[in-house]
Amino acid sequence: MNIGVVGSGTVGTILTQTFSRGENTIVLSHQGGAASLAPRRAEFAANVTFGEVAVALQQPLVIIAVPFTVAPTVLNQVADYQQRIVVDVTNQFTADFKKIDTRPLTGSEVIAKAAHNARVIKAFNTLPHELMNGRVDGPGQRVLFYAGDDRPAKKQFAELVKPLNFHPVNLGKLRHGGSVMQVGGGLGHTAFVQLDESLD
Ligand SMILES: NC(=O)c1ccc[n+]([C@@H]2O[C@H](COP(=O)([O-])OP(=O)(O)OC[C@H]3O[C@@H](n4cnc5c(N)ncnc54)[C@H](OP(=O)(O)O)[C@@H]3O)[C@@H](O)[C@H]2O)c1
Repeated sequence: MNIGVVGSGTVGTILTQTFSRGENTIVLSHQGGAASLAPRRAEFAANVTFGEVAVALQQPLVIIAVPFTVAPTVLNQVADYQQRIVVDVTNQFTADFKKIDTRPLTGSEVIAKAAHNARVIKAFNTLPHELMNGRVDGPGQRVLFYAGDDRPAKKQFAELVKPLNFHPVNLGKLRHGGSVMQVGGGLGHTAFVQLDESLD
């Protein structure tokens, strides 16, 4: 799948590396511009290119890996996502790690409001970044919680992550699933492994 990643910090980097293990083509972007990523070429596989944010935002699936505070402004650059998928990995923190209260909306509903006509999936934000590669020590798959309001988009997302050794767990819509996945919801910074029932 063609994937655009906005944000080349801790999370944008590891998710680019993770998705590049699959049958995907990835455009990685950040605020600083594509040219400034050139010295980092060796960190990424050949199916990763560096592009401008505007290009990443036009891909069929967009991963928005920027601080929550700027995500709506970044997403607003596109007037109509035409039902493309936007994966929200943000946690609602200020720059000094204070929780942002988005009530009555969940954080991912705030993101969805800014991503006009996109199908938004909340995912990855509950995992410590070093586990976002899907790998586990020993047998099993890395449990990946996700939520979203569009069933076909969620199905597509689940199929995309399964070959990367994730066990996707659907937590429902952005209202409920988003609320338990977001900061203060209980699942933050947790790590689970799905084992085959024949193992203990
Ligand atoms: N770190 C974790 O363990 C973790 C875990 C779960 C979820 N998250 C969430 O993932 C998101 C990214 O976190 P991070 O740790 O990767 O942050 P980070 O290392 O600070 O990287 C942030 C990235 O966002 C880019 N950015 C900032 N403003 C932008 C704008 N206006 N337009 C385009 N790009 C912009 C930055 O661009 P420049 O490179 O040009 O500065 C940078 O590449 C956050 O929402 C965070 O809450 C983080």
